[in-house]
Amino acid sequence: MLRIGIIGLGFMGKMHFDTYRALPDRAAVTAIADVDPKKRAGDWSGIGGNIALAGAAVDLTGVTMYENADDLIRDPEVDVVDITLPTYLHCEYALKALAAGKDTLCEKPMAVNSGEAAKMAEAADQAGRTLLIGQCIRFWPAYAKAREIVRGGEYGAVRTARFQRYSTLPTWSWQNWILDAGKSGLAALDLHIHDADFVAHLFGQPESVRSFGGGVNPGGWDHILTRYQYPGDLLVTAEGAWEYAPGFPFSMTFAIHLEKASLNLAADGKLTLYPISGAEPSGIVLDAESGYWHELTHFLDCIQTGKKSEVLTADSALRSVRLVESEMESIRSGGAVKL
Ligand SMILES: NC(=O)c1ccc[n+]([C@@H]2O[C@H](COP(=O)([O-])OP(=O)(O)OC[C@H]3O[C@@H](n4cnc5c(N)ncnc54)[C@H](O)[C@@H]3O)[C@@H](O)[C@H]2O)c1
Repeated sequence: MLRIGIIGLGFMGKMHFDTYRALPDRAAVTAIADVDPKKRAGDWSGIGGNIALAGAAVDLTGVTMYENADDLIRDPEVDVVDITLPTYLHCEYALKALAAGKDTLCEKPMAVNSGEAAKMAEAADQAGRTLLIGQCIRFWPAYAKAREIVRGGEYGAVRTARFQRYSTLPTWSWQNWILDAGKSGLAALDLHIHDADFVAHLFGQPESVRSFGGGVNPGGWDHILTRYQYPGDLLVTAEGAWEYAPGFPFSMTFAIHLEKASLNLAADGKLTLYPISGAEPSGIVLDAESGYWHELTHFLDCIQTGKKSEVLTADSALRSVRLVESEMESIRSGGAVKL
């Protein structure tokens, strides 16, 4: 049983809390730190996001609430520090947690820039502690299944792949940090990194990227479209956008076209394989647990067994931050950027 301390009880902090509560034999949340007194008092009604969360009433028996995250990191009743803070605070608190000898989970993107992310990876190595980053799409059942199908080789080589992620403008974050480019990296780093990371997870690091961007928030992009250049004629693109009007439905979709079949993840979450032969399309049955459940159970396994994750290393999460930075550089320069 691992004792977890969550720092930052916003949209993702609550998501992690609910997921640990669904794993009572594996993990117990023993501490939470948040600067918001309302949340520390148990009123979680204001927590919002683009995925529905469980109801606001929670039993906090056995959970120590801290205002100052440093106190949580020092708490001997905390084995694992789980950082669900705004992105610009990831590095500061990950370094503190690792220096205190705690295994550390940290939400994606790993940090607000690759310099800070590199410091985190180095600190984990030096401390000899596990540092895992919440690139949850690698664990999302439809995406993990697609990777299994592609890697399995039964349907031949991939010819084209496109990934899309759309959201209404996120207006629910603490002090509106998410719409501050210096704190979140806007849609490019906050939203689109999910697909950039998955592209690299599926196809490896591209040779170069060519990106286009748009949006209204200064200092970054609310909408990004990238072509990832690979050897040969493989065409891979990803688009992430969060400028859409209130009520616009969140969606994440992909289409992967292979030599012998096309694979489609529709906006309703259904994954379907369409054989080139014209045979009946087959709906693929997906694991009912969420990507967050798979991600956190995998992380707990890694920490408990001391085994390195074969799905996600701190270095690979760092490379994904670098990948998105290259995409942003491509928008700025108007040309392809080599990796
Ligand atoms: N994996 C995913 O699907 C996913 C989805 C959404 C967000 N995220 C990531 O999760 C992280 C958090 O995002 P969010 O949407 O939950 O943010 P949020 O604004 O909803 O919550 C942030 C919380 O941190 C608290 N906080 C701020 N400074 C603090 C401090 N110094 N000490 C303690 N608490 C502090 C705030 O009071 C707030 O409760 C971001 O990095 C974001 O990119 C990941």
